[in-house]
This record gives sequence, C-alpha cells and structure tokens, in this order.
Amino acid sequence: MRQPLGPVLVVVPTYDERDNLARILARLHAAVPAAHVLVVDDASPDGTGRIADGLAAADERVHVLHRSEKTGLGAAYVAGFAWAREHGYDVVVEMDADGSHAPEQLPRLLAALEDADLALGSRWIPGGEVVNWPATRKLLSRGGNAYTRIALGLPLRDATGGYRAYRRAVLDSLPLGEVASQGYCFQVDLAWQTWKAGWTVVEVPITFVERERGQSKMSRSIVLEALWRVSWWGLRHGRSHSPTPVRGE
Ligand code: GDD
Ligand code: MN
Repeated sequence: MRQPLGPVLVVVPTYDERDNLARILARLHAAVPAAHVLVVDDASPDGTGRIADGLAAADERVHVLHRSEKTGLGAAYVAGFAWAREHGYDVVVEMDADGSHAPEQLPRLLAALEDADLALGSRWIPGGEVVNWPATRKLLSRGGNAYTRIALGLPLRDATGGYRAYRRAVLDSLPLGEVASQGYCFQVDLAWQTWKAGWTVVEVPITFVERERGQSKMSRSIVLEALWRVSWWGLRHGRSHSPTPVRGE
C-alpha cells in the first residue's frame, strides 16, 4: 500500500522571470490552494528575487531560496529538493515560472501520483501537446527523447520534460549530492535514476504552452551537455530493463 499524499511543495526555479512570477503563483494558488511554493532564484539581474521576497512576505505559503550565482537548472533543483526534505514536505513538484506548465493541470499530476512514485507531465503521449513551439524546437525535444530511449533503454516518451511530481521517498533514496547534470539534462538524469531504482513512473499528458514573456535559457551548451552525458551513461551502463513497467494514463 502506498502512503496517502501529504503536504505539497512546488519548486519554481527562476532566472529573469520578473514579468512571469506573480502570475504563475496566482494561477497555482487558484488551482491548488494548499500547495506551498519555493522559488529558487539565482540572483536574477532583472530583480526577480526581490519580487519573490515581496510575494513571500504577503503569503505564508510562498518561500524563497536565494542563490548567489547562476549555476544551472539542475543545481537550482537539487538545492530546492534539499530544502523540501529539510522542511518535511511529502510531495515535491517541478514547475517552470514562465507559464509553460499550466498550474491548472497540477491536480492531474497529483492524482496520478496517488498510484505512482513519479508522475511525469508528458508532451509526447496521446493527449499531450506543445503549443507555439517552432518546428526546430519540437524536433530537438522529440529527437532528444528518441535518443534517450535508445541510448539508455529508458521507456519514456518525455524524459526531458520539466513538469513532474515526486514522492519524497524517491528523493530520499537518490544520491542528490552527486548529481552532476547542470542544465536541462538534469531532467533525464533524475527520470533515469528513478526508473533504474525500480520506482513506479507514470506519464500524464500535459499541454506545454511556449512562454509569452521573457527569454528561454535553452542554449547550445545545454544541448551539448545533454548529448554527451546521455551518451556517456548509455556507454557505461548499457541498456537495461525496468523492474516495473511504465504506464501511460
Ligand atoms: N534558478 C535558475 N537557474 N533557474 C533557471 C536556470 C538557472 O540556471 N535556467 C533556467 N531556469 C528557470 C527559468 O527561469 C524557468 O522558470 C525554468 O527554469 C525553465 O527555463 P526555460 O528557459 O523557460 O526552459 P525552456 O522552456 O526552454 O525548457 C523547458 O523544456 C525543457 C526541455 O523539454 C523546460 O520545461 C525544461 O525543464 C525542460 O527540460
Ligand atoms: Mn520555458
């Protein structure tokens, strides 16, 4: 029997999200009023950290972790996860600040987690979709996911996605201090480690909507890091088979 779900923390990494942060938190609390939020800001030059402090002062559900340097999405999440564990949250959600991950779909992820250990928001299963991405970015995501499936034998359609909910027991079991992935391949890294450890991973269809304000931080170096790390993991460990099958919803 799985434990029923306890308190939820949504970790929102930010770098220059001044025009997005207040909106996304308002939408989140409209959709899931009981959720707490941790904004992990890497000293954004545009003042996002100060805005986060203002939001936290006005709402006890909002917390802020300030980091002094931009060291990538992976490092920001690792710090956020450690904070979640110290503060006794039971469910830890990853969500972008820019509105691409609709808070209105969070109840769906949490419902799937009732019966799983990791619920992965998926753009590339039936019912999932991406709105307003150029063909090149779609190709990059689909190609990256196809390569990940082949290189690692990881049976997921969207292992690179960043909208997901973990049970705390999963995070407790992973050596988070050893995670070296800095950029977006952090997502693949954790999905792969979770699946390899035998936890139940379920993909839930989501609609990903490209941001309207601010800039994506995706870069050539982030793509290259993912490519070399996934290739290296694949060579080192080879393909293996999951002790537990992955279910779609
Ligand atoms: N603290 C911190 N530090 N936050 C960061 C950093 C960083 O170095 N880099 C990015 N972020 C934050 C952004 O401010 C945003 O809230 C979130 O991380 C996602 O960044 P985007 O730049 O908007 O990502 P994207 O839309 O290009 O990429 C999306 O798709 C990727 C590939 O599928 C995200 O959902 C990624 O998580 C996903 O891997
Ligand atoms: Mn984005």
